[in-house]
Amino acid sequence: MGEGISDYTKFCIDLRRHMWMAGVEMELRRLIWQIAVTGKYISAKIHESNRKLAGFKNMYGEEQLALDKSSDAILKNQLQFSGFVREYASEEQDRIIQIGQGQEKYFVTADPLDGSSLVDTNLAIGTIIGIHNGTMYGKGRETMVAALYITYGPLITMVYSAGKGTHEFVLNREGEYVLSQENIRLREKGDIYSLGGLRRDWTPGHLRFVTDLEAAGYKLRYSGGFVPDINQVLIKNGGVFTYPALRKSPQGKLRLLFELLPMAFLIEQAGGEATDGIRRILDIPVEEIGQRSPIYIGSRYEVEMARRYLEEVEK
Ligand code: AHG
Ligand code: MN
Ligand code: MN
Repeated sequence: MGEGISDYTKFCIDLRRHMWMAGVEMELRRLIWQIAVTGKYISAKIHESNRKLAGFKNMYGEEQLALDKSSDAILKNQLQFSGFVREYASEEQDRIIQIGQGQEKYFVTADPLDGSSLVDTNLAIGTIIGIHNGTMYGKGRETMVAALYITYGPLITMVYSAGKGTHEFVLNREGEYVLSQENIRLREKGDIYSLGGLRRDWTPGHLRFVTDLEAAGYKLRYSGGFVPDINQVLIKNGGVFTYPALRKSPQGKLRLLFELLPMAFLIEQAGGEATDGIRRILDIPVEEIGQRSPIYIGSRYEVEMARRYLEEVEK
């Protein structure tokens, strides 16, 4: 047995071993590993906030940083010492942060804490990461080399893809990420739907799309957390998530670089599809970091159905 490998992992495949067996390049492997470990620190921070819920005052009497800000600080600090990251872009920062020396390959994007408004309800929340090579501008299909998300729920799970399928790991009691599902595949057609935005703000094509899903018996699954909502589509092997264009916000709500591209990468690697209704998310050029886009993501059938309706009804 190698050093640091517990008996438990004799029978399991842990994240490092999986990436090595899958032939993921060494620097990328280390980077993904480090981000997964950072998820443990973020989760510890989330647990600390329980003390606040339970009425404890901060030890030093100072205002506790909002959880999304402290998750961002944890991630940035961890990546600073990786030696592989040139720039860090986060939903919590209004500009890109230079964290390397300038020669490093990787550019990392983060939504450090997605669904932070759900913390007090004890619903699952998450962290979303994109890893780009050389630049984070341009089409994700050309710049992205990996994506991952971590869910903080009853269990902590991590789903990653380095372009060789999409795989899920569960953090065990010994603090190891062990493989729970390798090569997750989405069915061509699912039976759940998850949708954001108010019905009164939907466009006619989107309204028809949802009306037909409902008529066909699709079950509604929406928690208001992008990570658990996407995770549900992935782990149940099918269905669709959408946050559409709204009358007053034609670009929808969710952010292309921090939220949509990583999820599109993971879902395409699982055999699904992700579009803004018409264009593939991975083919939409990133021009500015705060860019938003509508999204339809999940099984191919439903995403194609949305495309048809948007093209027919809205042209
Ligand atoms: P964040 O907490 O990172 O700001 O993201 C919240 C997002 C996402 O998690 C979710 O899909 C969406 O907001 C929910 O929006 P609505 O409250 O409009 O449904
Ligand atoms: Mn978010
Ligand atoms: Mn966030």
